[in-house]
Amino acid sequence: MTTPQQPLLPVVQPPPGSPPRLDSLKLDNIQGDVLAGLPKKTETLYFFVITDTDKFRHDLRSFNPLVKTVAQVLVDRKAIREHKRKYPPMPGSKPNLIPLVGVNIAFSHFGFKKLGIDDKKLADPAFLAGQRADAEGLHDKGTGTGPSFVPDWEQPFKSEIHGVFLLAGDSRATVDKKLQEIKTIFGVGGPKPSLKEITSVRGDARPGAQSAHEHFGYLDGISNPAIKGFAPDANPPPGPAPIDAGVIVTGHPGDEKQNDREDWQVDGSFLVFRYLFQKVPEFNNFVFENRLKGPGLTDQEGADLLGARLIGRWKSGAPLDITPFIDDPKIGTDPNENNNFHFTAETEVQKLCPFAAHVRKTLPRADLEDRPGNPSIARFRIMRRGIQFGPEVTEKEKMAKKTSHGRGLIFICYQSSIANGFQFIQKNWVDNPNFPPGAPPTQRPGVDPILGQGPGRDKISGHNPNKPTDTLELTDEWIIPRGGEYFFTPSLKGLRERIAA
Ligand code: HEM
Repeated sequence: MTTPQQPLLPVVQPPPGSPPRLDSLKLDNIQGDVLAGLPKKTETLYFFVITDTDKFRHDLRSFNPLVKTVAQVLVDRKAIREHKRKYPPMPGSKPNLIPLVGVNIAFSHFGFKKLGIDDKKLADPAFLAGQRADAEGLHDKGTGTGPSFVPDWEQPFKSEIHGVFLLAGDSRATVDKKLQEIKTIFGVGGPKPSLKEITSVRGDARPGAQSAHEHFGYLDGISNPAIKGFAPDANPPPGPAPIDAGVIVTGHPGDEKQNDREDWQVDGSFLVFRYLFQKVPEFNNFVFENRLKGPGLTDQEGADLLGARLIGRWKSGAPLDITPFIDDPKIGTDPNENNNFHFTAETEVQKLCPFAAHVRKTLPRADLEDRPGNPSIARFRIMRRGIQFGPEVTEKEKMAKKTSHGRGLIFICYQSSIANGFQFIQKNWVDNPNFPPGAPPTQRPGVDPILGQGPGRDKISGHNPNKPTDTLELTDEWIIPRGGEYFFTPSLKGLRERIAA
């Protein structure tokens, strides 16, 4: 089987010429999801095409005041904290939430083209080509090759999409009401609409104690980068070093194209959307069938240990690098502990965390930073903002060990360069069986067992902490991409002065 020979670092050079602008962050100009994350128990993504450009620009003027900024999200988050303090959640009863909704908007390259907006200086090849053109390179399943490749995606995502509204809130009722307000602004359902819905997807936090856990059961959203100069991140808990704002927000130090950005492109961010289905009963069956065995380990504990080694964290969120043999839920939810690890100081290779584990593949920390020349991981960081979709696994599915209802993750992440962010992580790290570098020849890492796809997906090493050269065959895939697109989330100024103008 051939394995992709990918570069470990991109060939993109820092911009030449003038010194970087040292703008401070304008929190009332950046859309809220980018840096603060729209608070959400539920979220709807409404994908559309523009049908009447002049009217769309006009309607956008009425829409723009609905867009929630980072500054406004910080106010909302403070209100939520105070509300929780006053009305602490009672065990067994539904949490009492403040009715809140946050709206953001983003455009694809095709949307800008339709509006006659020159976006060449956004200069991100992945964005300019669109994700459908990237699907083969991302190893999504499909038919044909090259320009005739057709990804095995849901039909609406194979057609052109111009933009997306993101509506996040406390309840479906609040979100639906706001969506209706937006549709009315753009004349949807009336005689003269300026846009047409392509499709909508809706995500919801999982019920009860699983609320912050993704469908395989692992606590998610623990590790996002702290941003230099962003007040809420002023004293970040121990973990990877804070990053320059420009890694996420365009036009700031850390954005490799900072000096090329036009005014309307500053304070924006590229939004990567992936519609990822998860085969949960099949995953559970795999970890059970291949469970680790040892003195005093029950079958379920052996399965849980294997699952944790595939992710790099226990279901509680506790990192294997800190607690490799037994879950410690207190560490999982303690922000002072749950990111305080670096994949260093291992006396025996892969004893603590396998090289292939999802969190090690997607943020290799000291695996890169301790190498000659100390390549920084900062430029490859992304701000993740996903939400689960689909129902809980039914008893029938558990018994059959087979998925019959669609469920998974609406994956969203922000970055100032898709080439350094999502695309780089997926292609050069996740799908690359030889990454991270420095593994002994007898311990080839293998691809990320949950997310890796393509020709390198065969087996991983390190799943057994006591026999790191043993390999585990990846006989199935548990994350199936069924759609996606690359978008740009403009600033409020960009929306008002360029896109609606
Ligand atoms: C259904 C799909 C996915 C699932 C179930 C999943 C699950 C998880 C879990 C459980 C964590 C650990 C919690 C945390 O550190 O916040 C995590 C972390 C992470 N994931 Fe994923 N993930 C998925 C897709 C992706 C994709 C598509 C990417 C990007 C290519 C990605 C990148 C990351 C990154 C960067 C981290 C943080 C690593 C760190 O900072 O330690 N994930 N993911």
